[in-house]
Amino acid sequence: MPKRSIIEPFRIKSVEPIRQTTREQREQVLEAAGLNLFSVASEDILIDLLTDSGTSAMSTGQWAAMMGGDEAYAGSASFRRFRDSIQAIMGFKHVIPTHQGRAAERILFNVMCKKGDIVPSNTLFDTARANFEFIGGEAADLLIPEGLEPARHHPFKGNMDTARLEQLLERVGPGRVPLVMLTITNNAGGGQPVSMSNIKAVKEICSRYHVPLYLDPARFAENAYFIKLREPGYAQKTPRQIAQEMFLLADGCTMSAKKDGLANIGGFLCTNDDALAQAEKDLLIMTEGYPTYGGLAGRDLDAIAVGLNEVLQEDYLQYRIASTAYLGNSIAEAGVPIVQPPGGHAIYIDARAFLSHIPSTQFPGSALAAELYLEGGIRSFEMGSLIFGKRDENGVEHPAPLDLLRLAIPRRVYTQSHIDYVIDVVLEVWRRRQQVRGLEISYQAPVLRHFTARFRWAGESVAH
Ligand SMILES: Cc1ncc(COP(=O)(O)O)c(C=O)c1O
Repeated sequence: MPKRSIIEPFRIKSVEPIRQTTREQREQVLEAAGLNLFSVASEDILIDLLTDSGTSAMSTGQWAAMMGGDEAYAGSASFRRFRDSIQAIMGFKHVIPTHQGRAAERILFNVMCKKGDIVPSNTLFDTARANFEFIGGEAADLLIPEGLEPARHHPFKGNMDTARLEQLLERVGPGRVPLVMLTITNNAGGGQPVSMSNIKAVKEICSRYHVPLYLDPARFAENAYFIKLREPGYAQKTPRQIAQEMFLLADGCTMSAKKDGLANIGGFLCTNDDALAQAEKDLLIMTEGYPTYGGLAGRDLDAIAVGLNEVLQEDYLQYRIASTAYLGNSIAEAGVPIVQPPGGHAIYIDARAFLSHIPSTQFPGSALAAELYLEGGIRSFEMGSLIFGKRDENGVEHPAPLDLLRLAIPRRVYTQSHIDYVIDVVLEVWRRRQQVRGLEISYQAPVLRHFTARFRWAGESVAH
């Protein structure tokens, strides 16, 4: 067959205008926002790559299903469609809706864990980590060493180091490990996938120590497609069959449906354990709602029920993975340092290598984010020293191990020409990278400083 371009497997029926601004306008907007893109109004953004979470475009099928939403408080038909759709893919006995992923995490960790417990993971995602640490737990990230090297190529950089898992269980004993959690794909580690053989190896160890295996499968369909492309023995299987096989290995999951649920809001918690499900529902009723809606409208449950099926369609996944890789490969070929190979939902630029003249204490990731906005109205997300670094009591900055800038791609939202525009803007900044200045914090909140921090350009005098 002749080679054909991979196209967006949809046509556009409803459009949402985006607004061009001048460089002068963007300079004013950014200055008023304290050089922090979280404080910029979305109307002032041309291409928004802040996150792939809750930003998907819904299909005609999803909008139609929403009109049929049953808003009954208890026993709604929407819940049954939601549950059936999840069970057909994931197979879990109990399905508990929540308003988003972190609510499922909070309930799971509160019911299953106590102070002093350890949860091993490839990398526990921020919200799961925060919820677990809040009850006094200690996360143990056991990613394979290749996963920590941005430039290193490996087909499954999200894999867990199974030797270290076994050593940990041996050392602390399974009594302190209420569950093991695999994040698929590994968001904090560059959206890198976990192989089926790794999930199987982790499950085998968990079974021997009688510890349940949980998945954080926010991007399970993208993970399944990477398995199809890269793991021997899976090329002939459908993404749905691969997803079913992945979930068969797990005892439960906490899911954010804002990613591979193709929904703007929603999540759920699953388990095969009857007693656990009861305790989880008891807590759910107190904080989220009755177990057939869990903080969501009936129409949201219907949007997710349809989205979970659409996300597994092969032409969608082929386009999704190819368009993310297209962005990554195009800028990498021009010399831009990125986390290799391109992940499923995002491209991560190694901002420290990109802006090698800016010290980590001057936030190269945030400086690059500000510059991409000034150059072309693009919003991106710093994953580096602003989020993961710390300032000590003497005001000294302690940078994070890596300074990455994430360009997350919302699902079904931007076309090839939008992505071509992003490439042009990144390469323009790359060409004049020596002129980009570092940043200094002028205000920071005591926790989660990245959301509200304000900056000034490094070296600029403080206004009095
Ligand atoms: C891997 C992973 N798990 C959990 C969450 C939390 O989900 P939510 O934003 O729906 O609370 C996220 C969100 O970004 C995520 O990427």
